[in-house]
Amino acid sequence: MTVGQALLRGVNRALGPLGFRLGRSGYVAFEDYRGFIPFARTLAEAQAAGLSVTDYVDSHYNVAGATQATVDRMAEMGALHAGVERVCELGPGSGRYLEKVQKACRPTAYEVYETALDWRDYVVRTFGVVGHDADGVSLKQTADGSCDLVHAHKVFPGVPFLSTCRYLVEMARVVRPGGHVIAEFYNARSLRHLVKRIKPPTAVSHTTHDEHVFTRYDDASAIRRYLPPELDWVATRGIRVITPLAGVLRVPLLGAAVRWAEQQDKPRSRVRPSRDLPRGQPGQPAC
Ligand SMILES: C[S@@+](CC[C@H](N)C(=O)[O-])C[C@H]1O[C@@H](n2cnc3c(N)ncnc32)[C@H](O)[C@@H]1O
Repeated sequence: MTVGQALLRGVNRALGPLGFRLGRSGYVAFEDYRGFIPFARTLAEAQAAGLSVTDYVDSHYNVAGATQATVDRMAEMGALHAGVERVCELGPGSGRYLEKVQKACRPTAYEVYETALDWRDYVVRTFGVVGHDADGVSLKQTADGSCDLVHAHKVFPGVPFLSTCRYLVEMARVVRPGGHVIAEFYNARSLRHLVKRIKPPTAVSHTTHDEHVFTRYDDASAIRRYLPPELDWVATRGIRVITPLAGVLRVPLLGAAVRWAEQQDKPRSRVRPSRDLPRGQPGQPAC
């Protein structure tokens, strides 16, 4: 890396949380986060691999079983139960969480706000959910206090923090009193973040590398500042806190050992007795 590139990288790290990035004019490298992985190609690759689209995304872009592990943690926290009737999800992508949440609690209504329209229409067709127009910051088509569960997985790390705050205010508005808000953030205090800071850029497509894609890592105090006062922070669940790279989990023996060690990182719950009835209860798997 040249001195110029290192300087540019530093400046862009500082500007990143504000949603800005410096680049040469005419250089279109930034990948717009409001899009998701290529739709037609992903469907074809899943078919070629003999997997459902959701299992393909789980295993190819993540680690097989990661989605189920998170959904299991949501159930442990009491966010998924037979009384969950209305669910709202931001940025469902392929629907890999949606599918498992539907199976776990069979809600009568499931709404999604997804900016990638091909994927939004796909989840509407495949899972029978209601797809709303996503303006990127609000849940404007959802009524106040109407949802038992409002959740977002791997959306906020790619959304500028002002939009993240606006979404959290909206999540607090639409969740019913005593319902759950689940918001995932990438953990600034994880080995994964450390490795990301020191490793050279890694290609994410033929023309771009991971540093072209804005990704924000937050620590607990930053997340606490984003929360509107109506939400009470109930519990934190961490995954991949000590796993430096997803690939490590696929290495025989080492993967099993790291998985075991992650499970020893017992969740740190901060359950506050509810003095006033909280309008919502956020659980935050930082992964
Ligand atoms: C990294 S993907 C995660 C997809 C899915 N939640 C998962 O974990 O597999 C981020 C998703 O959020 C969507 N997205 C990005 N910005 C958004 C925004 N401002 N509002 C709603 N969805 C957004 C993208 O289109 C994509 O589907």
